[in-house]
Amino acid sequence: MFIVVTGASKGIGLEIVKQLAADDDNIVLAVSRSNKTLNELQKGYQNILVLSGDITSASVQKKILTISKKHAKHIDILIHNAGHIIKKAFEKISAGELKTVYDVNVFAPFLLTQQLLPLMGKRTKTHVITISSMGGVQGSSKFPGLSAYSSSKAALAGLTECLAEELKEKNIAVNCLAIGAVQTEMLGKAFPGYKAPLNAKQMANFIIDFALTGHQYFNGKIIPVSSTTP
Ligand SMILES: NC(=O)c1ccc[n+]([C@@H]2O[C@H](COP(=O)([O-])OP(=O)(O)OC[C@H]3O[C@@H](n4cnc5c(N)ncnc54)[C@H](OP(=O)(O)O)[C@@H]3O)[C@@H](O)[C@H]2O)c1
Repeated sequence: MFIVVTGASKGIGLEIVKQLAADDDNIVLAVSRSNKTLNELQKGYQNILVLSGDITSASVQKKILTISKKHAKHIDILIHNAGHIIKKAFEKISAGELKTVYDVNVFAPFLLTQQLLPLMGKRTKTHVITISSMGGVQGSSKFPGLSAYSSSKAALAGLTECLAEELKEKNIAVNCLAIGAVQTEMLGKAFPGYKAPLNAKQMANFIIDFALTGHQYFNGKIIPVSSTTP
């Protein structure tokens, strides 16, 4: 399988790439900004391709298509995992900070999916997965300081439903995993001192299982993956 994973330099994305690459039948394209970590990640694996770049940049989105085309005729799985958080009182969030959160969490998955369409679906199904957050689920508990982040994750969930409907005729399934607390750097920013019930490896394991089989059972679904609050 050919799989694209964004946000691959640390946390959940890093674990997703390592676990997927353990299967020699997979080729994984790992994308994130940190060049150093990506190069480290590549060591010892024949089947990890890396691209260091900002996924909000149109040229990086294009490069992901070019690299994918060079190595595969078809993208089987696309995991929009990269995420950006800002924790700040509502009245202190600047327009620039708000834009960055939406650029990474909403605009990039939108535009990257658009860019990669030529390599998705048709005779073989593609499963696109967006990684949202419990905070982005309507009716879930909300927390002060996360208005930009949680609202962007709600937009991502909504986008998932729209894309699933519009792309189903192209043989592309799109689902959203709205995950709860996982012990990563990002959780430390959102809830300092909080001990999550899962580590990145465990969540990556679940996401991969879902990526491999979930499209047979779900399309356009927003699935909460959480046993605690937060
Ligand atoms: N951890 C949790 O409790 C939790 C809960 C709910 C949802 N989530 C979601 O799960 C996903 C993974 O989170 P995590 O906890 O593993 O976060 P993390 O440890 O902070 O990792 C985030 C990843 O995204 C990449 N990234 C950020 N901005 C980017 C950009 N502009 N271009 C390319 N890559 C970018 C980072 O790499 P570089 O800095 O190298 O670019 C990093 O690899 C995120 O979407 C997050 O919102 C996490």
